[in-house]
Amino acid sequence: MTAEQDVTVYLNGNFLPAAEAKISVMDRGFIFGDGIYEVIPVYGGRLFRLPHHLERLDHSLQGIRLANPLSHASWQQLLEQLVALNGGGDQSLYLQITRGVAPREHSFPHDTAPTVFAMSQPVGPVPESLRQGIAAVTVEDFRWQLCHIKAIALLPNILLRQQATDAGAYEAIMLRDGFVTEGTASNVFIVNNGVVLTPPHSNLLLPGVTRDLVVELCRQNGVPCVEGAISDMQLRDADEIWLTSSSREIIPVTRLDDQPISSLRPGPVWQKVSELYQQYKQAFREGEVT
Ligand code: PDD
Repeated sequence: MTAEQDVTVYLNGNFLPAAEAKISVMDRGFIFGDGIYEVIPVYGGRLFRLPHHLERLDHSLQGIRLANPLSHASWQQLLEQLVALNGGGDQSLYLQITRGVAPREHSFPHDTAPTVFAMSQPVGPVPESLRQGIAAVTVEDFRWQLCHIKAIALLPNILLRQQATDAGAYEAIMLRDGFVTEGTASNVFIVNNGVVLTPPHSNLLLPGVTRDLVVELCRQNGVPCVEGAISDMQLRDADEIWLTSSSREIIPVTRLDDQPISSLRPGPVWQKVSELYQQYKQAFREGEVT
């Protein structure tokens, strides 16, 4: 089975089978990595935290000085149609906007239409093996200074993630000047003496939609939660470490650089917050929250 089989995608105004969707080799996304993206979870055919993802999309587009080609209402309509065409249920939706097709010249082209692409595919629940705890390694964050933009140019993240894979670990947690920024495709939380801590929004990390929801759920449910810097030492001494992302929700880290964390088992605060997250998801699935 190829990656394209049976998937309907959206490209520049049309819905079509993935195998028939073609993009020019002169597209600036292909040539320069000049574009941005979003990943949105879909539960029961509904797009989870869509307003938050569209708001971040706006910020990413502003960050690369590209106008949003569609209104939020048009985005919603087209993404919901794409999800329906792929059978509804639980899916992972990916969308990407590039600066379009133009002769290879670094400066912005004039009067070039952006390329707008979206795909969505059914997904199952987060594997139980991940929810039992994963291994992570620490790496030096050598990325650029605009990590709050969800840029498609992910080569640094890919190289750093591969370091984790090569070490038999699932994720690499990045440190810049001795402080945690984020994972290569996730945000980082620690727990110390019952207090949940995650780095604040800044230009050095992606403002994760899952991260923001976890902070919100903690605060609404009386779980002490602080947004503040996490030093290398605090990370290693943490009672619990978690990673958050749209595709993996909240997963516990039980080994860091080959040292055990929280006795190699998911910790009690993770149990509680993960349960709150699942309840929220279920309420969303049933239409009780928007
Ligand atoms: N990545 N930080 C980085 C660098 C990421 O790539 C991601 C998500 C996150 C978590 O953000 P959110 O909670 O909004 O998914 C943090 C997506 C899932 C990906 O690239 O596939």
